[in-house]
Formats: sequence, C-alpha cells, structure tokens
Amino acid sequence: MNDTFLKACRGEKTDYTPIWIMRQAGRYLKEYKAVRAEAGDFLTLCKTPELAAKVTHQPIDMFGLDAAILFSDILVVNEAMGQDLKFYEARGPVIENPVRTRKDLDRLRVPDAEDELSYVMETIKLLRRDLKVPLIGFSGAPFTLATYAIEGGSSKNFLNTKRMMYQNPALYADLMDKLTDSVQAYLAAQIRAGAQVVQIFDSWVGVLDPSDFVEFELPYVARIVAGLKKEFGKKVPIIYFANNSASLLREVKKTKADVIGIDWRIDMADAVKQIGKRFAVQGNLDPLALFLPPDKIRERVADILRKAKPLRGHVFNLGHGVVPETPVEGVRAVVDAVHELSGK
Ligand code: CP3
Repeated sequence: MNDTFLKACRGEKTDYTPIWIMRQAGRYLKEYKAVRAEAGDFLTLCKTPELAAKVTHQPIDMFGLDAAILFSDILVVNEAMGQDLKFYEARGPVIENPVRTRKDLDRLRVPDAEDELSYVMETIKLLRRDLKVPLIGFSGAPFTLATYAIEGGSSKNFLNTKRMMYQNPALYADLMDKLTDSVQAYLAAQIRAGAQVVQIFDSWVGVLDPSDFVEFELPYVARIVAGLKKEFGKKVPIIYFANNSASLLREVKKTKADVIGIDWRIDMADAVKQIGKRFAVQGNLDPLALFLPPDKIRERVADILRKAKPLRGHVFNLGHGVVPETPVEGVRAVVDAVHELSGK
C-alpha cells in the first residue's frame, strides 16, 4: 500500500510529494469515454459499481497517481434527497424541481445513505479490494449543493440562491440544515464502507462575500468536520476544497479541516503565509497549464513545490478539475514532474 498521500494529509513527513488530480477519471481519457458509452448515460455509470470502479482505476494505472477518488458526482445527494436530476450532454446537470418555497423544501428528506446511495458504498467496497493507493470519498459542500438545489442547475450569478439567503434566511437555514445532515451522514457512510480520506467540494463558494461566507456556509462545513471528527477521530483526514477562495482563506481555516484545498488564482507563497503551519495544503496548478509543453509544466511544478516547502504537509493537485480537452501528455508530465522534482 502506497500511504504517502495519507501521511501528507496528516502532516507527517513523506519521502516525496504525493499527487492526485481533481476529475482525474473523465472525458480527457478515451478509455473513460469507452466505458461511459458502454453505460449509456452518466448517471447509469455512477450507479453501476463495476463500471464506476473501473473508471476510478483507469488514471491510477496509467499515470501512477498517489490516490484514487471514488467515481461519482456531488449531485447524487440532491437526487437521494428527492430532487429530480438529469444530465444533458450540452447543458450539464438539471434539477426539474428546484427549492424555492417552504413546500418545496418540505418534500426533501435526509436520505439513509447506506440504503439510498448503496451503489456508492458498493463501489467503495469493490475498490478497496484491489487498490494499491488510498481511496478518497467525497461530497459537495452544503452551499455548493444548495446552489444546485435552488437554481435547478448551473448558474452565472446565483440570483435565486442569494435572494433566498437575503430575503428568506429562515428557509435558507432550514435547507442548509437538511443538506448538512445529509452530507455528514453520506460521508460517514462512505468512511464506514472504506473511504480513507474524504474531500468536501465547495466549487461555488467563491461567489460569496467573506462576511456571507462566515454566516451562510462556514458554520455548516464546520459542523460536518466536527461531526466526522467526533465519530472517526483523527484517523480519517478531511480535505476542504474551497474553489476561488483566495479572499476567504483566513475564514476557511476555521472549518478545522485537516487539509485546505486551494485553487490556482492564489500564489502558493501567499497561501502558505495565510494558512500557516497547522494545516496541510492541497494544490494548486492551473488546470489549463496542462496545455503547456512539458518543460514549462515542470517549471511551474518546481515553483509550487518550492513555495510549499514550509507547509506541514503538501498534496499536489490542480487548482480545480482537469478539463475534457486536456492532452494526456500534459497529465503525464505533471505527475512525473511532481514525483521527480520532489525526490521519488
Ligand atoms: O474527480 C473525479 O475523477 C471523480 C469524479 C467526479 C465527477 N464529478 C464526475 C463527473 C467528481 C469528484 C465530481 C464532482 C462534481 N460534480 C463537482 C465538484 C467539483 C468541481 O468540478 O467543481 C461539481 C460542481 C459537479 C457537478 C457536475 N457534474 C457538473 C456541473 C457536470 C457537468 C459539467 C461537466 O463537467 O460535464 C457534471 C458531470 C460530470 N461529473 C462528468 C464527470 C466525469 C461528465 C459527465 C460525462 O461523462 O458526460
């Protein structure tokens, strides 16, 4: 078992810097697209444990990554809560029954994750049988899941979400409570099934003003972290990835996650200054930098590794998910550069 990633998450000394990549299983791989075609549609792929496990393995074997991430999607939680979820090829995810009123919210329930998301637990169990690297489970953060729940899909300015926050804060708080309970129970179920680390994806939190982050998201994320710590102790590291969070980092630390995931818009040296030595950090190469020639990728990797040196622990990653058009050689180049330059 390669436990370098687990050690880095815990802030223990490692022989080299481990790397995994957000969205490492996906459409930039022809091997993924073949399995996806076999499944038919994306949600069927997520709900077929043998196929979900197969695509989870693909990038590990191809590139020598140091961790695997469960293949699934953050929106399966919204579906299990009672929202009608569809993925359209060009439009992305759509929820046909968004939450706009108290009645809408009353129809949503906190799912029994072991039962209603049993296919996820099944995938995790399959993966743990033969993975040689640690397995990351994940969930969306309450705010990011709330944006999909309320907007009914992707959004530009999150008008409906902010309107609810500002004009009907009691309804927003009750929705967030339900989402928070669902996420905590879902992550706990993943850990019991075999996930060794969990990541909370907060993809859209960067649209919040810092004081709104403190009021409308921080308490919920902190509650999930505290709940999981209470149940599982220090054994299972928690990564909180707050996308577009350069202006929020001082507050992000208050979640008390073990690992702070950062995006690429902040220089690693500044992140180190703000985050300090109590946390491990994950990041933060621009995903589009994978379109650079290999020698330029190497220079950027060297720069990030050098600036991350003072940290308690560093997990290399991109600053957000790899995009479907990414050349496979770029992915290979970043993994090799991280391993070689950090002493593997
Ligand atoms: O990282 C991994 O390899 C694990 C798989 C994973 C997927 N989605 C697979 C996926 C993970 C961790 C996610 C998380 C996710 N899903 C997030 C948070 C991370 C982020 O990128 O910010 C969000 C916001 C979603 C919601 C989502 N799922 C959107 C907006 C879309 C459509 C846009 C797109 O990229 O196509 C999806 C679909 C999705 N999730 C795909 C994959 C591989 C593409 C589906 C396909 O095969 O057609």
